[in-house]
Amino acid sequence: MQKTRTVLVTGGCGFIGANFVRLLRAKRPEWRLINLDKLTYAGNLNNLAGIDEGPGYRFVRADIGDAAAVEALFAAEPIDTVVHFAAESHVDRSITGPAAFIATNIGGTFTLLEAARKSWSGAGRQGADSRFLHISTDEVYGSLGEEGYFSETTAYDPRSPYSASKAASDHLVNAYFHTYGLPTLITNCSNNYGPYQFPEKLIPLIIHNALQGRSLPVYGDGRNIRDWLYVGDHCEAVLEVLERGVPGRSYNIGGNNEMMNIEVVTQVCDILDRRLGLPATGMTRRTLITFVKDRLGHDRRYAIDATRIREELGWQPQVDFEQGLEMTVDWYLANQDWVAAVVDGSYKEYYRTMYGGN
Ligand code: NAD
Ligand code: DAU
Repeated sequence: MQKTRTVLVTGGCGFIGANFVRLLRAKRPEWRLINLDKLTYAGNLNNLAGIDEGPGYRFVRADIGDAAAVEALFAAEPIDTVVHFAAESHVDRSITGPAAFIATNIGGTFTLLEAARKSWSGAGRQGADSRFLHISTDEVYGSLGEEGYFSETTAYDPRSPYSASKAASDHLVNAYFHTYGLPTLITNCSNNYGPYQFPEKLIPLIIHNALQGRSLPVYGDGRNIRDWLYVGDHCEAVLEVLERGVPGRSYNIGGNNEMMNIEVVTQVCDILDRRLGLPATGMTRRTLITFVKDRLGHDRRYAIDATRIREELGWQPQVDFEQGLEMTVDWYLANQDWVAAVVDGSYKEYYRTMYGGN
């Protein structure tokens, strides 16, 4: 029989967190879910439209680095499970403004670990079923050449302020397992795409710009490789690890789907051309592609060896890239109001700083 849990999800108003909250409400409706989110530029209550507060769901607006707020929440609620998504997540922003990444990704994770440790050791909740699942990234492993894959034993070699802050938080999580016996788990996932992704990330940015008739910025030579995974598949993997993963372990999650950025961008253009016909110029949206200055320290290739999660937990992706990308483009076409609401003044300012123009 499934255990009934009281789950603290952090960052549940962001891209992956919101998809995960939706999955949990659908698949584990008997669990109580508390969503702690600061609502930064990347967090959006509209991502959870239709999920109403009640006995099964509560939203709390707070900073994960606010120890008093986090400890008060642990005191008020019988939390036995933490699924920690909240983070500053965009590599480019970590290059222009690393401080927030250090504060949230390292300091915030530390605050949560401390609150869980104190609460669970004091209240006898650190039973066999308590879990602290930390959502991390494949970027902690650094950059690959043409060969090889990241496995769970690959040495950490982060190269951006974002990935360094995530690596630091992973080390803290492991330290709490070894030192205090906190029942922690870590997942290291590759690039997600799908509904509710903020249009600063490659795929939604390209969709948005193409719909506006703007240039489509491709960094460097466009041949950097990422392994793309549909967000719904990632969320299913997280639930598997939460329920059946072995505490103290980390699990790599990937789509087995390596693509060069330029291939991803041309596929988005082709789907839009098929769905909407050619734009008024009469030319394919591929003609909007513009190669721009490379990202500083741009990692060349990420690729995941997901043997552990496949063999131990039987998880593998269900959505292939072609199908997932079509679903994603269709979601953005059908949710232009959502896009219009998030590309507000602060987005425009960010966009000007990154790409120039309007
Ligand atoms: P996102 O940027 O879309 O959302 C982050 C969420 O965290 C937002 O709702 C934001 O308001 C919240 N948040 C930020 N700082 C906070 C703070 N100090 N206190 C409370 N809430 C705060 O991020 P995402 O893409 O959904 O990523 C979620 C997690 O998954 C991150 O930990 C990220 O490192 C990891 N990850 C992301 C990807 C990807 O492709 N997007 C892949 C692997 C791992
Ligand atoms: O690998 C997992 C990581 O994937 C997560 O940990 C991060 O939170 C998530 O943001 C993502 O990081 P990337 O830097 O890989 O994603 P991004 O969408 O920013 O960029 C994907 C690739 O596309 C990367 O090689 C940079 C390139 N790119 C990106 C943007 C925004 C462009 O060429 N042009 C762009 O305008």
